[in-house]
Amino acid sequence: MSFERGELIREGKSKQVFGVAGSDDKVILHYKDDATAFNGKKFGVVEDKARVNAAISWHLMQYVAKETGIRTHLIERLSDTDQLCEKVDIIMVEVVVRNIVAGSCARRFGREEGEVLPFPMIEWFYKSDPLDDPPMSDVHALTFGWAEQHELEYLRFAAAKVNKALCDFWDALGVDLVDFKIEFGRTPDGRILLADEISPDGCRLWEKGTRRKLDKDVFRRDLGDLGDTYRELYTRIFGNELGA
Ligand SMILES: Nc1ncnc2c1ncn2[C@@H]1O[C@H](COP(=O)(O)OP(=O)(O)OP(=O)(O)O)[C@@H](O)[C@H]1O
Ligand SMILES: [Mg+2]
Repeated sequence: MSFERGELIREGKSKQVFGVAGSDDKVILHYKDDATAFNGKKFGVVEDKARVNAAISWHLMQYVAKETGIRTHLIERLSDTDQLCEKVDIIMVEVVVRNIVAGSCARRFGREEGEVLPFPMIEWFYKSDPLDDPPMSDVHALTFGWAEQHELEYLRFAAAKVNKALCDFWDALGVDLVDFKIEFGRTPDGRILLADEISPDGCRLWEKGTRRKLDKDVFRRDLGDLGDTYRELYTRIFGNELGA
C-alpha cells in the first residue's frame, strides 16, 4: 500500500506533520534540516540533519520498543526523511529524564554541570512555545486537565524504562546519556504511545572520558559544526558513513 502526503497539519521547528490521503488516523512526519535553539531564538540550516535525525529516531524508537515493550507511534519508513506514524493527540507534558546535571537543571538549582545523579530524575515541562516550556508538576497537569493521574503514572513508568534501554544503548557506543526529552500521545481508542522523536536534538550525549558534546549543544553553544557531529553519531550507530 502506498501512502501519500495529505494536507500540512502542523509545522514545528524541526518537522512538518502531514495528514495521509484517505486515512484519518495516520500522519507523515517529515524531518527538516532546520536547527533551532532557545525556543527558536537561534536558527540555522544544518546539512544532513533531517536524514540523520530521522534514521537515529527510527532506530532508537524501534530499539526501545523491542527492549521495553513500550508502544510507539511508528508504522513505516517512507523515505530517508519521512515516517508514517499513528496520529495521536500529543499530551502537553514534555517528559525529561536526567542522569547527569546539565543545562537548565544546573542553572535553576545552582548545581555543577556534570554532577552524576544518584538515580534518574524525571521531570515534567509544559509543552508551550509562547511560555518557553515552563517546568511543572503533577498538580498543574491534573488541575489544568493536561493529563490524568493514571497517565502521569504511565509516563513515569515508561520514561524510566526508556531511560534504562537508552543508557545501555549509548553506553555500548562509548557515550553517556546525560538527559533527554520525550513526548507521548493518545490514540482515539485510548492507547498511550511514545510519539514524536528520539534524536540528538532532544538528548544530551557526552563522549565517555572526554565529555565532548555530541548533541545539539554543539549548535546552542557554537562548539563546532553540528552537521559533522550528527554524521559522526550516525557512523557510531550504524557503522557506515551517511551516504550522499
Ligand atoms: N504521531 C504524532 N501525531 C501528531 N502529532 C505529532 C506526532 N508525533 C509528533 N507530533 C508533533 O509534531 C509537531 C512537530 O514536531 P517538531 O519537533 O518540529 O515541533 P517543535 O518545533 O519541537 O514544536 P513543539 O513545541 O510543538 O514540539 C510537534 O508538536 C509534535 O508534538
Ligand atoms: Mg520537537
